[in-house]
Amino acid sequence: MSSTTLYGGVSGRRVTVRDLAAAKERGERWPMITAYDAMTARVFDAAGIPVLLVGDSAAMVVYGYDSTLPVTVDDLLSLTAAVVRGSSRALVVADLPFGSYQTSPGQALESAARFMKEAGAHAVKLEGGRRVVPQVEALVSAGVPVMAHLGLTPQSVNALGGYRVQGRGEAGDELMADAKDLERAGAFSVVLECVPADLAERVTASLSIPTIGIGAGAATDAQVLVWQDMMGLTPSPARFVKRYADLGAELDRAARAFADEVVGGSFPGPEHTYS
Ligand code: KIV
Repeated sequence: MSSTTLYGGVSGRRVTVRDLAAAKERGERWPMITAYDAMTARVFDAAGIPVLLVGDSAAMVVYGYDSTLPVTVDDLLSLTAAVVRGSSRALVVADLPFGSYQTSPGQALESAARFMKEAGAHAVKLEGGRRVVPQVEALVSAGVPVMAHLGLTPQSVNALGGYRVQGRGEAGDELMADAKDLERAGAFSVVLECVPADLAERVTASLSIPTIGIGAGAATDAQVLVWQDMMGLTPSPARFVKRYADLGAELDRAARAFADEVVGGSFPGPEHTYS
């Protein structure tokens, strides 16, 4: 197993799922950020973020839908290819969108193969517990690393009755059983979204694969945020989001400054003009 740290360590090659397994053994925590285009992928990659997720959250933050359900494999394929082209070190994980894997293990493999072959993804993510174990097994036996996703699974928002905390009370035992089944099926990691912190802590202690939390407290092995949420582009982010920048205000300021200078005639100046 590799002993090179994920954050600020591994260099000159891509991070692999083996590196993530070694980090869990060392007790090293790590960050994951979503990315949907080459330029932000380049920035996050250069910042040392070891794993970039091309989330189906693209449905909302890129394509403007009000849920993740409408986005298609084709929609996410070109975004994933851009993120792979924009990065050189990060492991790039592509989300399998709603309807692209639930039908059968064969359908899951066909969709995942497109992300690996056409976009160059290094792993895929899918949502669900025991019901997707056959899909996870089929992917893993075909050589596709799988990141699982439990708790608030946004593709099931209609069945869950909204974006709400999952796994409280007895539902926590179900989630724990799901997590263990997904680990047994060969998943290399599991996202825990919007679950009580004590449940996430117990799941993290019970699994030998890394847990990646979002709204799941501080005890998970890794943390993930959607970049538009953490950088201040989302108007009303969820409680679990911390804002690390206010790009919304900065873009607004720059757009207004440009508009004022165009209207006032001071842009372009001589230094921006060819003779
Ligand atoms: O689609 C996404 O961005 C995700 C993360 C929030 C984990 O699934």
